[in-house]
Amino acid sequence: MSIRHSVIIDCDPGQDDAVALLMAYGSRDELDIRGITTVAGNVPLRLTQENARRVTELAGITDIPIYAGCARPIMRDLVTAEWIHGATGLDGCGLPDASMSLADGHAVDFIVDTCLAAADGEMTLAPTGPLTNIAMAIVKEPAILPKIREIVLMGGAMDHGNTTPAAEFNIYVDPHAAHVVFECGRPVVMLGLDVTHKAITTPARLDAIKRLGTPVSDSVAGMLTFYNKYDIDRYGMEGGPLHDPCVIAYLLRPELFSGRHVHVAIDTKSELSMGKTVVDWWDGNDQAANATVIDRIDADGFYALLTERLARV
Ligand code: BDR
Ligand code: CA
Repeated sequence: MSIRHSVIIDCDPGQDDAVALLMAYGSRDELDIRGITTVAGNVPLRLTQENARRVTELAGITDIPIYAGCARPIMRDLVTAEWIHGATGLDGCGLPDASMSLADGHAVDFIVDTCLAAADGEMTLAPTGPLTNIAMAIVKEPAILPKIREIVLMGGAMDHGNTTPAAEFNIYVDPHAAHVVFECGRPVVMLGLDVTHKAITTPARLDAIKRLGTPVSDSVAGMLTFYNKYDIDRYGMEGGPLHDPCVIAYLLRPELFSGRHVHVAIDTKSELSMGKTVVDWWDGNDQAANATVIDRIDADGFYALLTERLARV
């Protein structure tokens, strides 16, 4: 396989972020992973950076640097989600504390420096948490923009929010950062709840992962068993939606997904719908499209790809 993307994964692990990292680690023949940057989100930064290192150690990877980034959103107080992810953010993983070191320097500087050193259109950014680090990098050094091929993110919802009735978690936590990213002028792919709620970890799909019988699959099964509980109770579904790995699957097999190129605005003004992604699906406001909003997935194909990639780690 040849390299499809040179990518920085910006994340807030979180069990589904962790599975996304492992899926990416099993795909290094197709993804040139330049680094992992972490941000405050599901849990505070001191835990998200630690969790990224725990997962990277599980994969036996020593040559991908992990950076800590922004400890809070740009304008608003940090909101976390321990009620879904547990106190550590990675409950159920069965992993020890991290022993590998954090890379020196700040995640935002790493994103800026890596992009500046790249050719035009070379870098893909893959955020699976609040968009604080990505927005800060764009604000700090707008000269990175031509270097960015696309920003493929998990966040947003056309339909129902999961954190407020209007807003999805990643966009709700830092709506001002999301505004910067959606307005940045580079291609944005939004994998929001409209598609991730069609990627359900059913018992059969979880069993297929368990059957791999590796330390990675044991840890993933433990994480997803913990993580699914909240969503099964809340949504009454067979399993939980597996949000963040959809980003990695999109990088690897975009043909598993479909959507529409439309205009997306972020509400940063109203407390009632703060962080809502206002998606102009039917082109009502005549504004130029700024994002591809994905709403469909071949879920069986996605889980087959995920299981195959986890088997390689
Ligand atoms: C998103 O929020 C977090 O809880 C998950 O990690 C995912 O990135 C889903 O709304
Ligand atoms: Ca996440």
